[in-house]
Amino acid sequence: MGNKAREFDRLVREVFAPIYPIIAAQVMEEVGFNEGLCLDIGTGSGYLGLNIAKISDFKVVAMDNNSDSIEVLKENISQWGLDSQVKSLLGDVHDIPLATNTVQLAVSRGSMFFWDEAIVAFNEIYRVLSPKGVGFIGGGFGNLETKAAVDQEMLKRNPKWLEKLNNRIGSKEPEKWRDIVSKTNIMNFNIIHNPVEMWIVFRK
Ligand SMILES: C[S@@+](CC[C@H](N)C(=O)[O-])C[C@H]1O[C@@H](n2cnc3c(N)ncnc32)[C@H](O)[C@@H]1O
Repeated sequence: MGNKAREFDRLVREVFAPIYPIIAAQVMEEVGFNEGLCLDIGTGSGYLGLNIAKISDFKVVAMDNNSDSIEVLKENISQWGLDSQVKSLLGDVHDIPLATNTVQLAVSRGSMFFWDEAIVAFNEIYRVLSPKGVGFIGGGFGNLETKAAVDQEMLKRNPKWLEKLNNRIGSKEPEKWRDIVSKTNIMNFNIIHNPVEMWIVFRK
């Protein structure tokens, strides 16, 4: 078992945990339906997918390309008592091991910043989305209050935390991602951006 996946899980439990229920509720409100297949891409320890499963009737496939994360994820699925609703999947966003048009909701938090070929990745997400399926891809920290709490804690651990955040969801980032997504097969998309988050939202 890789220590990094365990360390990340501990960090999430200690610092980030309060943001996921807020993001899950935000996703559900944006999507407007609450059943079908949800794919959580770059799920890590699984908390976004788990929180979506908890408040909806979605079946969730939680996917990551890191096998150590998948081991931690499997434990978390069981700890949450969601074995029948949430399944783990070892897979890469650049070559998603799912059939075309099968996913009603694709979510991803904090992962796209690590993708080698973002255009390929977005085209893959679009391929697996079903007609009228929704993509909700990006990064965020819930609301101003939860972000302030995360910032306070993370600055103790990493003095460059805000700099790192600025490189991911700062004021220049929406334009960069608008340019990337406009080169994909995605016809219409919208970027939600404010000091707390940046999400690329699209429908097929
Ligand atoms: C910062 S973590 C975010 C984890 C989780 N989504 C969360 O918000 O807690 C980024 C995750 O993306 C995964 N990842 C990076 N590149 C990926 C790829 N090409 N395909 C699938 N997952 C990937 C990493 O293994 C890691 O678990």
